[in-house]
Amino acid sequence: MYIISDTISKKKIEYIQQKDEFDYLKSLIDSLEKGNSAGILLQGPPGTGKTLLAISLAKAYKASYYIIDGSPDLDRRDIEGNWELLKDETKFNYGPLTLAIKDANDEGIAFIIINEINAIRENEQISLNSLLSENHINLISKGFEKHELNSESKLIIIGTMNLGVIGINKLQESFEDRFIITPEISYPLKNKEIDIATRVSGCKEKVAEIVVDAARQIRKQAIQDYSITKIFSTRLVVNFCMLISLMPPKYLKHNIENVIINKLGTTTEEKKSIAMILDGKMFETKLKQELISKTTSIMNVEGMIDKDSLDQILTNTKVCVADYISKYGRSNAVRYNGSILWKLITWMWLNKRETLQDYFKLTEFLDLHTKYKQEQGKNYLFNGNITLSYIKWLYRQKSEDLKRFIDEYPIL
Ligand SMILES: Nc1ncnc2c1ncn2[C@@H]1O[C@H](COP(=O)(O)OP(=O)(O)O)[C@@H](O)[C@H]1O
Ligand SMILES: [Mg+2]
Repeated sequence: MYIISDTISKKKIEYIQQKDEFDYLKSLIDSLEKGNSAGILLQGPPGTGKTLLAISLAKAYKASYYIIDGSPDLDRRDIEGNWELLKDETKFNYGPLTLAIKDANDEGIAFIIINEINAIRENEQISLNSLLSENHINLISKGFEKHELNSESKLIIIGTMNLGVIGINKLQESFEDRFIITPEISYPLKNKEIDIATRVSGCKEKVAEIVVDAARQIRKQAIQDYSITKIFSTRLVVNFCMLISLMPPKYLKHNIENVIINKLGTTTEEKKSIAMILDGKMFETKLKQELISKTTSIMNVEGMIDKDSLDQILTNTKVCVADYISKYGRSNAVRYNGSILWKLITWMWLNKRETLQDYFKLTEFLDLHTKYKQEQGKNYLFNGNITLSYIKWLYRQKSEDLKRFIDEYPIL
């Protein structure tokens, strides 16, 4: 029912502020009196980064955080703790509320993040109520064992609540009352959303612009005439931008259908209506143009590169390496075993960046960029260009793959 997340998460994706909401909340938490738990209720449409904002706040304090996914099935015992029947004894497993109190007492601050808090039943809200107003909980199933926040610590409870286009769920009034503030997170302004999509997905800015523009049009339509019931969220914008930048352009059509149309449209009518909006904006044509232009991917629609472009990239790289060797000598470029030295890469990054980036784009063929995404949670492109951290990662973590790659595309 809940996930305990450690503070050292591999994923580096952080919340990007729309205005100053992160700073504001951070300042609010800073100024809270110790010895108290405080509730913050983030409201807004789905996929606007509410959960991410909450996690990023916890990370800013290097604090432990517990995520509870609210649902009507959530039982009081899930959050307080429950008895487990072992062979010939029973064991009490403490739940996220008790664990968070302990962490806060040990470390000075801890966070509880409750997604879709409005989905929690009234009964379950009670255990949160006493924590919010009296800074302690009594475990009913464990003889009313009391767990209390000490006077030196803060416990931050962040609830997130999705306000969909249709149907707004409300919180119990007495419960809602206990949250000290209820900021509203809405869709970002156009340029901010383009910025978020570019930075989080690593796609070209132009790609993000086309997608955000379509998303806004579809949102507008959804509000106007209820012809589309699901929401084109910022999350969907980001995911779509990421997929189309990582996958060969020949799958663009599949991605538009599967990621946007089928996902947003529940009925045939809705799907048609979304497809029409996209067609009207020449969505596919415009995106394809961006995706196959050289700065994004070296692959063409078939996922191949034409021989001339490949030869050109390899020649440029060889010329550049030869230039370096003539200046600094071969021993500053390669080791005895043939592996290249980092010095050479740094020099190219500073002096011949485009050549270096074009060369490392060839690693797309080995799918190393997707591994990078999976392992590091980061994108290998920024604004369509290879990043230095991707190259560093290849060099440090994937040296075997890199060696094989260089054997295949020699630069000497
Ligand atoms: N302001 C933002 N900064 C960074 N990423 C964002 C932002 N808004 C949305 N996203 C993207 O949307 C995804 C989903 O956000 P999430 O926090 O789960 O939304 P919510 O909780 O509002 O439904 C994030 O993982 C990220 O990719
Ligand atoms: Mg969420």
